[in-house]
Amino acid sequence: MNIKSICVLGGTGFVGRHLATRLANQGYRIKVLTRHPQRHRDIEVLPDAQLVEADIHDPTVLQAQFAGCDAVINLVGILHEYSGQTFAAVHAELPGKVADACHAAGIKRLLHMSALRADAAQGPSQYLSTKGAGEQRVMRAQGLAVTCFKPSIIFAPNDNFFNQFANLLQRAPVLPLACPNSRFAPVYVGDVAAAFEKALEDDATIGQSYELCGPRVYTFKELVEDTARMLGLKRRVVGLPDALARLQAKIFGMLPVKIFTMDNYLSLQVDSVCDCNGLEALGITPRSVEGIMGPYFGNQNQRQRYDALRQAAGRD
Ligand SMILES: NC(=O)c1ccc[n+]([C@@H]2O[C@H](COP(=O)([O-])OP(=O)(O)OC[C@H]3O[C@@H](n4cnc5c(N)ncnc54)[C@H](OP(=O)(O)O)[C@@H]3O)[C@@H](O)[C@H]2O)c1
Repeated sequence: MNIKSICVLGGTGFVGRHLATRLANQGYRIKVLTRHPQRHRDIEVLPDAQLVEADIHDPTVLQAQFAGCDAVINLVGILHEYSGQTFAAVHAELPGKVADACHAAGIKRLLHMSALRADAAQGPSQYLSTKGAGEQRVMRAQGLAVTCFKPSIIFAPNDNFFNQFANLLQRAPVLPLACPNSRFAPVYVGDVAAAFEKALEDDATIGQSYELCGPRVYTFKELVEDTARMLGLKRRVVGLPDALARLQAKIFGMLPVKIFTMDNYLSLQVDSVCDCNGLEALGITPRSVEGIMGPYFGNQNQRQRYDALRQAAGRD
């Protein structure tokens, strides 16, 4: 398929910004739909990029915005429900509306972001079951060439996951951690973006669903301990027994700022690791947490900065 112009939903988010930047720099014409254009004006400085305010839950708006594009990428997702935005509406109903609007606007190509272990029937959490339902909906859409992506947790220097734990570790000598034995294979956002780009270029990816993982599997506890190590901090990470983890999820879930909810706890009951890493099939060599986050956190380590200054001043 000859794809030149792409409408991106969720293009203002963590993954979306990396992907929009990559695609714009590769010469694709990008249209990013958002609820809050005033917060994301910087996207407009990307080459041939357009930022458009739109209510993407309105089918007529979707159809109008898709008109004239060659492909659609849907990255929209939430980790917590909030003010009327339910998992069902965002993860299951919206992909259905996107598929229908593609059909109505004559769009033939859709790239859809799901999540590893998303499963409509067996997903242990609302997040995973609704993501599974959305994935089913688009993969079954008639007349639409769909590729689906199912990543483990995605990391980068500006991510939420590592930076949230880095913040907590900098404040507390001991960190109580729920679900310490849950396993992840964190995948670098640049590799995820490369997978999407590859799918746009290669029609062999049509109809495929790709699990995306990094090169190594970690327990949750190992990941947080490694973060402390990369920051140059000596910290104790204490795994919580299950009853306390559930209690923590219940209490934190009642706070106005959601950092850990019962639904997050339930998502952690299945390991987020690949059966078959799609990056290999796409010819992408996955980059490691240590290779990307080590230098980033290393720079935050005051001692290292001090040493670097001394070295630069010839005082070592
Ligand atoms: N980050 C990870 O570790 C990870 C792992 C596996 C899968 N995923 C999936 O990858 C996708 C992108 O994740 P991310 O980390 O980049 O998310 P993010 O930073 O939270 O960005 C979410 C994007 O979705 C849009 N959005 C959120 N709620 C919306 C709503 N109710 N209605 C319309 N638009 C809404 C936002 O657009 P505006 O606010 O501009 O409208 C934003 O661009 C999601 O589908 C997520 O489930 C992420």
